[in-house]
Amino acid sequence: MTMQNKLEWNGNADSSNLSEQVIDKPVVRAFIDDDASACAEIFDLAGRQAFFWVPWPRMDQAAFTRVTCDEIVRVAVLGGAVMGFIGIYVPDKFIHHLYVHPKAQRIGLGNALLSDAEAFLGPGAHLKCQMRNLPARSFYRARGWTEDIEMVEADDIGNWTRISYAGPVVG
Ligand SMILES: CC(C)(COP(=O)(O)OP(=O)(O)OC[C@H]1O[C@@H](n2cnc3c(N)ncnc32)[C@H](O)[C@@H]1OP(=O)(O)O)[C@@H](O)C(=O)NCCC(=O)NCCS
Repeated sequence: MTMQNKLEWNGNADSSNLSEQVIDKPVVRAFIDDDASACAEIFDLAGRQAFFWVPWPRMDQAAFTRVTCDEIVRVAVLGGAVMGFIGIYVPDKFIHHLYVHPKAQRIGLGNALLSDAEAFLGPGAHLKCQMRNLPARSFYRARGWTEDIEMVEADDIGNWTRISYAGPVVG
């Protein structure tokens, strides 16, 4: 997917005037090329945190661009700075990346990014998460996503569990 494709989905978030946003309310918008440096840093730091038991190579802009090349990328902006991103392989409704800068976690950015993706993808959206990544599993559970215990895959990193979205929680 080209960068132009990445810009095609603009979602519902207003990205027209970021300077007017209040500092404590994240805005989710489409990725632009100027975001690559910030996204690479987030990928580097939050990835090392998520996969703490394996060597995590230094992730630079080239690495970020390579792993997201087929994906729609959306970013969470706080106070004018990109502090989180999500990468979605749309044909499979598959969320391949979701990372929030360690300095900006637990203040709602992950929620904002996943909520935006839920609205776009709808039921059937899914992802894979390492079983050892307990904070992330708690995060998805808190949003009403469901782990499929029969869909565990193993590789060199460890066991991956499939987590999926069935639609908005009613009531
Ligand atoms: C997982 C991650 C994306 C969550 O993003 P976040 O912005 O920190 O999460 P939010 O602030 O939106 O949290 C929403 C809710 O999820 C749950 N939650 C989030 N982080 C949690 C944690 N570390 N432990 C337990 N519950 C957690 C809580 O219920 C939280 O609500 P609360 O803060 O009011 O209690 C972020 O921690 C991250 O980037 N982690 C490293 C990378 C990673 O593991 N990515 C996922 C790979 S599958």
